[in-house]
Amino acid sequence: MTMHYDVCVFGLGPVGTVSAACFAKQGFYVTGVDIDPARIEAIREGRAPFVEPGIDELVREGVQAGRLSAGEDYKVAAQSDVVVIAVGTPTKDEPDLSQLDKVCAQIGYALRESDNAPVIAVRSTVPPGTIRRRLTHIVEKASGKKAGEGFHMASNPEFLREGTAVADFFRTGRVVIGADTEEAGNRIEALYREVEADERLRVSVEAAEFAKYVDNTWHALKVSFANEIGRIAVAFGGRPEETARVFLSDRRLNLSGNYLKPGFAFGGSCLPKDVRGLSWLADELGVQAPLVNSILPSNEAHIALGLNAILATRPKRVGIFGVAFKEHVDDLRESPALAIASQLIAGDIGVAAHDPAYRPGERLPLGDTPHRLDIMEPDMVAGTADTLVIMHRLPAYYELAARYGRKPVIDLTRCPEMARNAFAMKPLKPVRSSYSSGAAVSAPREERQSFGASLPVLSLMRKTILPS
Ligand SMILES: NC(=O)c1ccc[n+]([C@@H]2O[C@H](COP(=O)([O-])OP(=O)(O)OC[C@H]3O[C@@H](n4cnc5c(N)ncnc54)[C@H](O)[C@@H]3O)[C@@H](O)[C@H]2O)c1
Repeated sequence: MTMHYDVCVFGLGPVGTVSAACFAKQGFYVTGVDIDPARIEAIREGRAPFVEPGIDELVREGVQAGRLSAGEDYKVAAQSDVVVIAVGTPTKDEPDLSQLDKVCAQIGYALRESDNAPVIAVRSTVPPGTIRRRLTHIVEKASGKKAGEGFHMASNPEFLREGTAVADFFRTGRVVIGADTEEAGNRIEALYREVEADERLRVSVEAAEFAKYVDNTWHALKVSFANEIGRIAVAFGGRPEETARVFLSDRRLNLSGNYLKPGFAFGGSCLPKDVRGLSWLADELGVQAPLVNSILPSNEAHIALGLNAILATRPKRVGIFGVAFKEHVDDLRESPALAIASQLIAGDIGVAAHDPAYRPGERLPLGDTPHRLDIMEPDMVAGTADTLVIMHRLPAYYELAARYGRKPVIDLTRCPEMARNAFAMKPLKPVRSSYSSGAAVSAPREERQSFGASLPVLSLMRKTILPS
């Protein structure tokens, strides 16, 4: 008799084994697939193939209850409602996706002669776009079936930490599911029925894929930041733990979602000045602080990208909405809007602006340049400009932009729009992969847009407005 499984899991490393054992713990029938006989043997003997608190007991319990098994036969994919992929994706320079390619081809072959249409949930960490633009084609080619009909592709990233993996599985910050159909998402979500999650998020496949890169980079950034600050504290004779206590005590601005929403560059009287101050201090003390030193260049690059997005519309006259460094204030110090206006005017492009804090008719100075920025009524700015640029998150500006919607609108308060305008991503070209199915893979590295080469205005800007 052919067995039917609720779940099969490809890859019995920490992620695959913990997932498999925790699905079995909730009552599902689970089988694991690996190419490493030692890992299969371990599971069959009722123990985990690695050290992790609590996992041996769960594996033993699952095997004894007949709900957890393991083997080498990839064809079990055709007998499962959900196929979870948890093989390795090591990165040297670029991610090595060859294990994933191979598994997807195997799953495809398994589905060739089957009526079963499983949800294939990728739990491995991958760059966004991998599932839709690469793995889906591999499964389609090997199975001869269409995604959305003969199988469903989805992303279900894993957020556990080794050492507390089992506890993290059952008590997690969030379950993230990226699926194109509700039914595919429901089938994955059912696997977490006994999990206590702060949030259960349904997002696009790409957002789910991206989540793990973003999380891990953020965690790495936090460690590096804490260490740089600690080094500087030691160097001036302070106590790093005291500095950390003061910093961590602020849960409104420091440990919160504030300052973490993608938008436009920072400016104003404090942030640039004090980042410069800390860089100087580290240098004076002989402390290496590459992370702190990279903040201002990153901000400048962001301003340059915004400027390039505006220039890409080939404007003769630009209307800027919001000139203070942020909305609801009149502080012009190190305002990114002024940096942009200054560059446009230097390039012989006409500029007029509106800001609720300034009266129409005022002419604002632009750093140490001879130029001035004319403030006008909003409709006058929009009516006379051929490109509109929104710098402040004010409902009135979004409404105005909608009214003048036939003109190009560069909304710099929404970073993604800016990036899309400036660097519309080329679709990834299918090229022959080294792997035999000839499946579509991403464009080679040299074909991608070069970030640095796209910032022609940066050095000019530094000279005129931004501090060097
Ligand atoms: N380790 C973590 O803490 C963690 C946390 C979250 C996400 N992740 C991600 O999850 C993925 C898996 O991580 P891991 O640490 O468990 O990986 P791992 O490298 O320890 O284990 C992967 C397993 O896949 C098996 N495998 C390779 N090709 C196979 C095939 N064709 N068929 C069946 N099995 C095959 C390997 O033999 C190995 O046992 C990675 O993408 C990783 O980045 C890891």
